[in-house]
Amino acid sequence: MPALESIRDRFLGGELSAPVALMQMLVSTADLEMVESAAPAELRQLLDANRAGCTRICEMLHSGVDAPAESETVEGNLAFARQLFDWSVSQSEEASVALYSLGNADLLAAATAEVVELFNRWALLGTQVRCLQIGCGIGRFEAALSGRVAEARGIDISPKMIAAARRRCAGIPNVIFDVTEGRDLSIYSAARFELVYAVDSFPYLIQPGLELVDRHFADAARVLTPGGHFALLNFSYRDDPDADRREVRALADRHGFAVEVDGARLLSLWDALAWKLRKQSADTIRMNAEGRGAEIRMVSPD
Ligand SMILES: C[S@@+](CC[C@H](N)C(=O)[O-])C[C@H]1O[C@@H](n2cnc3c(N)ncnc32)[C@H](O)[C@@H]1O
Repeated sequence: MPALESIRDRFLGGELSAPVALMQMLVSTADLEMVESAAPAELRQLLDANRAGCTRICEMLHSGVDAPAESETVEGNLAFARQLFDWSVSQSEEASVALYSLGNADLLAAATAEVVELFNRWALLGTQVRCLQIGCGIGRFEAALSGRVAEARGIDISPKMIAAARRRCAGIPNVIFDVTEGRDLSIYSAARFELVYAVDSFPYLIQPGLELVDRHFADAARVLTPGGHFALLNFSYRDDPDADRREVRALADRHGFAVEVDGARLLSLWDALAWKLRKQSADTIRMNAEGRGAEIRMVSPD
């Protein structure tokens, strides 16, 4: 996490929204007083208006909520994520899915609405669309999308997240949640969804390396209908957008996705990188492979 001065400068330069800047300052210090003395007036006002939430976030940070998983194995990492999010959601439902909400339900709702509007602009929604979110947390997207799609499903590794999601979406008939082992999408049959998306969950899948991420790309390709979309918001937390774009392009290529949006910053409230991938038909994949084969043949001396 960058130092306070650099966060303040990026905020004053218009690169970061006020909630993201304040959240980054909190994460960088876990110290309310230090943030208060370094923050410009607008951020101090935001902190004042959300003091209880910011205090809770500092307490969560002191408990190591943002510490990377110590285990480097897939199994150890999955156990870590389950425990981390079971605990976080019991501290603050809003902050557990988005620290930049500062624990404030209205801020979180505004950020959720902005992502839904992005999906709408990308033409991903519609009354025929069945969608699946990987790492759905408290179900804020399922609640927001339920009136705009045929079916909104969410899976999560954390039983307590799913319990919160079920409570928050109780009575919405086309919303369904499942706890999963977090390894893949094997509970779903092929061509089951028109849209698969992941909002800020891939940074946890990628922690032990690319194995889980690769499996999820393979399975997203399997469970999507041809032409279906895979939307990703944030791929990692390593703060290297070019490396993220390179890896997503390689994964997309390997699993038959066309990259329609390549890691762009398109939201005003949240600084996530956004990808829109489209599952290509078997014919397109074959033609591309043949095209590449022809290129390789052309440069070959014989
Ligand atoms: C930062 S939260 C975001 C939640 C939700 N996408 C949102 O934006 O409201 C990340 C979520 O991913 C879930 N998660 C982490 N690793 C996972 C895995 N391997 N499979 C499924 N969910 C996972 C966590 O339990 C947590 O709910």
